[in-house]
Amino acid sequence: MVKKNRSWGGRFKQETAKNALEFSHSIEIDKTFYREDIAGSIAYAEALAKAKVLKPSEFKKIKIGLNQIQKQIDSKKFNWNKALEDVHMNIEAALEKNIGEVAKKLHTGRSRNDQVVTDLKLYMLKKSEEIKISLKELLKSLVQKAEPETETLMPGFTHLQIAQPISLGHHLMAYYEMFKRDLNRFENSDNNLSVLPLGSGALAGNRFKLNRKKMAKNLGFKEVTQNSIDAVSDRDFIAEMMFNISLASIHLSRISEEFIIWSSSQFNYLELPEELCTGSSIMPQKRNPDMAELVRGGAAKTIGNLVSLLSLLKNQPLAYNRDNQEDKAPLFASIDYVLSAIDITSAMVAGAKFNIDEMLNDVFDGHICATDFAEYLVLKGLPFREAHAITGKAVQLAEKKDALLAELSLTELKKLSKKIEKDVYKYLDPMTSISAKTSVGGTAPSQVKKQIIKAKMDLKI
Ligand code: ARG
Repeated sequence: MVKKNRSWGGRFKQETAKNALEFSHSIEIDKTFYREDIAGSIAYAEALAKAKVLKPSEFKKIKIGLNQIQKQIDSKKFNWNKALEDVHMNIEAALEKNIGEVAKKLHTGRSRNDQVVTDLKLYMLKKSEEIKISLKELLKSLVQKAEPETETLMPGFTHLQIAQPISLGHHLMAYYEMFKRDLNRFENSDNNLSVLPLGSGALAGNRFKLNRKKMAKNLGFKEVTQNSIDAVSDRDFIAEMMFNISLASIHLSRISEEFIIWSSSQFNYLELPEELCTGSSIMPQKRNPDMAELVRGGAAKTIGNLVSLLSLLKNQPLAYNRDNQEDKAPLFASIDYVLSAIDITSAMVAGAKFNIDEMLNDVFDGHICATDFAEYLVLKGLPFREAHAITGKAVQLAEKKDALLAELSLTELKKLSKKIEKDVYKYLDPMTSISAKTSVGGTAPSQVKKQIIKAKMDLKI
């Protein structure tokens, strides 16, 4: 039974062992791209017809047959058969069953080696499009959330210690920059995806005078591969996409981490939308940020998947090896995760409620304007290191008195440096502090507004 089904079985006397078949079939995974397999076969059949390997009537039959199979699979009426190993041979066998002998001509000059890379690239181009669309949605939610908050004060952190005052809009727009770079990376890696391998055969090329450029155009590829040996063994494009996914996932994980910290009762900076939180089965008061935790936790597998793909590639001699069948499971898992994680993160961003009073409280904590104080002294002519030391003394004094820097009297301050005048108090005001950071990309509301205007232009919103 098994033997009969095998399209490559001619030279074999024995049937494939049951355990070998169980071990090697990939149908559960590669049926994911059955549409791409069918599209690739139709384009290939058309090229065969143009090259007069198929008669026009034969091409027509094959095309109709393949479209029928697509409908059957779409409506879940297709019987996938493990004994036929993979999506390619399942569809080919079904075609023969549906249209008879002529189906046997479809694989002329083609190998599953050029077929599988073609299918994968087509599928990945489609998924890359979906990822880019979701990333754009996330960018939009960030801009929309940041726009009303350009003048909202919050403490900026380094080492998770309160550092300097910043604008909340500025903080949110930091994530905009990260995800914008992610989007650019997917746009760039599309260039390596959009190169058609079909027509490379098993490894040596194809003798049937196929118009590869025409096939590329029909399938939506920009170019055709230039070396058939590389074409069937190249999986760099998968590594690239998986790296892009990993880095985007790391960014998703970082924003989730902040949302988790910010929504804790200790921080209380943020309330995540209730519909994205869960309760505890034992502690009735709990409202847990599970979605953010799952985004953070799930990012781990994208890193693991990337490492497993890279490890898969590193010892392979040219050209195709069956090892490559193992490329799909990690890739698909990463794609699935990142699409749903971007989506849920957009919803968290859009629905987040900021507790700006709590943020403001912390802005008046921890001598947040100490750097501004030192810079004031610099503007009065002191070298920065000296200014730094004097500011340190002022902080010591304030701490001793359990007061803010701004609450120290001018007489007290003048004892630290004669240069200090009444105008120092302006520098100890967090709003004045952020407004002064007008360097390009700085936290001054005027600058953050500029960043937002540019972002809105880029996003066409
Ligand atoms: N299922 C295989 C894969 O995913 C298809 C290519 C098989 N080619 C071969 N020569 N056995 O890589």
